[in-house]
Order: sequence, then structure tokens, then C-alpha cells
Amino acid sequence: MSERGCVITGWGTALPPTVVTNADLETLLDTSDEWIVERSGVRTRRAATGPFVRPAPALHPPSGVGTTATLAIEAGRQALDVARTAADEISVVVLCTTTPDQLMPATSSAVAGALGIGGGAVDVNAACAGFTYGLITAAGMLSTGARKVLLIGAETMTRTLNWNDRTNAFLFGDGAGAVVLEAVNGVGSLLAWDAGVDGSLVDLLYVDHGDGMVMRGREVFRRAVRATVDSINSALAQAKVGAEEISLFVPHQANQRIMEAIAERVGIPNERIATVVESTGNTSSASIPLALADSIARGRLGAGDLVVFAGFGAGMTWASAVWRWGGPV
Ligand SMILES: CC(C)(COP(=O)(O)OP(=O)(O)OC[C@H]1O[C@@H](n2cnc3c(N)ncnc32)[C@H](O)[C@@H]1OP(=O)(O)O)[C@@H](O)C(=O)NCCC(=O)NCCS
Repeated sequence: MSERGCVITGWGTALPPTVVTNADLETLLDTSDEWIVERSGVRTRRAATGPFVRPAPALHPPSGVGTTATLAIEAGRQALDVARTAADEISVVVLCTTTPDQLMPATSSAVAGALGIGGGAVDVNAACAGFTYGLITAAGMLSTGARKVLLIGAETMTRTLNWNDRTNAFLFGDGAGAVVLEAVNGVGSLLAWDAGVDGSLVDLLYVDHGDGMVMRGREVFRRAVRATVDSINSALAQAKVGAEEISLFVPHQANQRIMEAIAERVGIPNERIATVVESTGNTSSASIPLALADSIARGRLGAGDLVVFAGFGAGMTWASAVWRWGGPV
């Protein structure tokens, strides 16, 4: 696959102010900090909604405090600033979310409106694989004429939780991450990608309208590892890149054990995994841009580095992307 020439020039993040600790969860659930840390690596998560948020946020109108849109707007604004990009330079806003504020219109419309963007706006929902699908979508747009794309992952996962369900309530959190992508002729590209779905597995992880999340955790773990490893290997083979050449692995931050199991099977050492799950929990579509921004802040990326992004989640969906980093880092 030929290099498509797109570069990430800006990034931003947003987290709601309320920190929920495992000790907080112990007051609601028959669980322990020790169990949660050992099984998932999560110590704290941020919550925009739920029993630990004071005062309780107004969910309606959806422009109120603690919505997917408000988090997306904050992260998006930072990314535009870092990229020194004006709203009218953005061809499209792509908002990856599995927790839109309304069924209609797409939450990206409110985000574009708040940021003064009129180029175009669309939501992408592929559950926790959303941001990786978004990267592939944005790169495709840039290769066919778009000038700049604002790509955001934003979620209020706490709205989907039953806080009394110990099988999954400890795992998730809220947040947003955003990047600006630009078409370029120089270094920086999506080298190859892979995406897949197994629609026979929709019952493993789902949220029905008005209901709390249902997750068959053990099965999700098994299937996610297998599918994501195959997907990454396929993308690496297309890009003619060996696992040992990967400078940074930015997986969906589902939980520490899954990320390490995938990395080990692909042949990527643990120290090359970008991880923020300990302080954010699983923020679905927001997790990869949050982990990416953290790695940039720590100086872990340089021009020409090879990066693998990989997402997986409800559906089951998965996607991976091999990227040559070209940003001004
Ligand atoms: C959710 C997950 C951490 C649970 O770990 P597990 O080792 O599979 O745990 P199990 O569900 O088999 O339960 C093991 C024991 O812990 C207990 N348990 C379950 N939840 C618990 C909790 N929150 N606190 C304490 N104990 C708990 C179970 O009742 C069970 O007890 P038993 O052995 O006496 O029957 C793990 O399955 C996982 O990480 N799955 C993937 C989830 C995921 O990443 N989802 C998002 C994908 S995008």
C-alpha cells in the first residue's frame, strides 16, 4: 500500500473533574481495590455523570455540563490551538463516539457548531474500535481532497453503566481526545490498515436503550485478544513492517491485561505500550487519543517513528492502523 501523506499536527484532551477511586466503588459494590487493580489495572476514572458527581449534572438539554459534546469541544479546541488551525480550515469533523448526546442529530453537529466549523461533520460509532476506524476514515478523506480533518473520540460511558453491577462498572470512565490531521507530501502517513467485525458476537457486550451495560467479560477478553492480534499482524504484513520496528503501540485502553496480552502475542515489548488506563479506565473511543496525547507529552514520539494503533470492542468490531509519525514533535 502506498504512503498517503497525512500528518497529525495537533492534539488535545478533556476529562471531567470528578475522580472516582476504587475505594469509592467499594462503597457501592461488593468489590475491592486489590481485585480491580489486579484484573484491570484501573485505579481511578473520571465521571461526568453518576452517584459521585456533585452536583448531579443536567443531562437535558444535552448542551449541559458533562456531555459527550462538551468534552469533545474542549479536546477539539485544544487540538486546533496546537495545530494553529482556524475553524474554516477544517474540511470535516469526525466524532467517534458510542455515547452520542442524542439519537438525532449527530453529536458532531453540536461540536462543529461550538467550534465554528462549517466544513462537514459526521459521527462514527464502532464502539471501542471507533477511533481507529476514525483514523482510517480521516486518512481516506485526506487522500481524496480534504485539507484538514478534526478527529475526536469522546465518550460519557458512565451514562451507560448500572453502578450496582460489579461485572463492569469498575472498568469504564469518561473523557475525550482529539487530533488535527493534515494532508502533506512529506513524512507522515497511514501505511496500512485492517478492520473486521464478527456480528455473531453482539451479545457479548451491549447497552439497550434505557438499560445498563451487559458484558460477558471473560469471553470479550478471549475474543478481543485473538481478533486484535490477527488484525495487527495483517496490517503489519501489508506495511511490510516487523513488530520489532514499532516504536509505540497505542491500543484501545480496555484494561492493562488485554493490552499486554495483545502486545506479547504480536511481539511488542511492554515498555512500548502507551497506557493511561490506570487513571482513566476504559473510555471507549476516547482512549486511544488520550493515550496518544500522553505519549506526545512524555516525548515518546519522533518524526519517522512507526506507530501501531489498534481498537476492539462491542460488535465485535476491531481495526488496526500502521502509522508513520510525522508530527512536529
Ligand atoms: C472483566 C474482567 C476483569 C473479569 O475478570 P475475570 O478474571 O474474567 O473474572 P470473572 O468474571 O471470571 O470472575 C472471577 C471471580 O471474580 C468475581 N468478581 C466479578 N466481578 C468482581 C468485582 N468487581 N469485584 C470482585 N470480584 C468480582 C466473580 O464473581 C468470580 O468469583 P468466583 O470465582 O467466586 O465465581 C475480565 O474478564 C476482563 O478484563 N474482560 C474484558 C473486559 C473488557 O475489556 N471489556 C471492554 C472491551 S472494549
